[in-house]
Amino acid sequence: MVDKHIPDDTLLYLNNVTVSFDGFKALNNLSFLINNRELRAIIGPNGAGKSTMMDVITGKTRPDTGDVLFNMSKIASPGETKNLFGRSRLNKGSIDLTQYDEAEVANLGIGRKFQKPSVIESLTVWENLELALKGRRSPFESMFKGLSSTGSKKIDETLEKIRLKDRRDLTGASLSHGQKQWLEIGMLLLQDPKLLLIDEPAAGMTDEETFRTADLLRELSEERSLVVVEHDMAFIKALNCKVMVLHEGSVLAEGSLDHVQQDQQVIDVYLGR
Ligand SMILES: Nc1ncnc2c1ncn2[C@@H]1O[C@H](COP(=O)(O)OP(=O)(O)O)[C@@H](O)[C@H]1O
Ligand SMILES: [Mg+2]
Repeated sequence: MVDKHIPDDTLLYLNNVTVSFDGFKALNNLSFLINNRELRAIIGPNGAGKSTMMDVITGKTRPDTGDVLFNMSKIASPGETKNLFGRSRLNKGSIDLTQYDEAEVANLGIGRKFQKPSVIESLTVWENLELALKGRRSPFESMFKGLSSTGSKKIDETLEKIRLKDRRDLTGASLSHGQKQWLEIGMLLLQDPKLLLIDEPAAGMTDEETFRTADLLRELSEERSLVVVEHDMAFIKALNCKVMVLHEGSVLAEGSLDHVQQDQQVIDVYLGR
């Protein structure tokens, strides 16, 4: 049952979440909390359950057991409560994410970035962002062609954030791998997520892009929570945040990077390999 003592500042709460595939437990009593405006890094060997954890949060996979709660009590404005699709809230206004499908979870304010960017290569950076913004407009608003001035302003602000202001009129195809990843993050930002889940953003990036991405994610966590899965330890170090180590579907260790790097179990199952 739902723990009645979830701390007030909690945005995401997983408690005893188990997911089995043909008897194999991809997640095994997984429990953790993410705070509002927290940046959290997740590491762990292949097969540890990192992607399955994201699948459970985003409504792609239903857990066999356990709670997956998204606490909107501190952030929901009266307008946003309409987005609950008629299902009731739990304690303190929390939403039981296991009751929603992927599209609904996205609308509740959880964005997910997969490893492979879904930028449209033939469109410009600006047009990609415009499409992402229009995706959230109501049918009534979409009847009008073009963008409102608030819409253009939002795109300008996003371009600045994702370091692509001087590339707004270039096509997606002309961007480097790192710039495509930033554009995709920008597209997600235009949906105003409260929580962003990001799978291996630094893979394939140059060293400079890797550090700029860490800076970007740290900046973004001033306004929302981010959960970042990565293998690149230099990138994790640059994120300078709490690290959680997953192993066999459970949390093996958590704390500062220094702390988990000195944990003998973490060295044995992951870092020492
Ligand atoms: N749809 C599925 N069907 C069967 N097994 C799966 C499925 N998804 C994941 N698994 C298994 O669950 C375990 C965890 O996988 P995953 O969450 O992808 O790990 P990670 O992302 O940490 O590498 C792996 O052993 C994987 O083979
Ligand atoms: Mg994975």
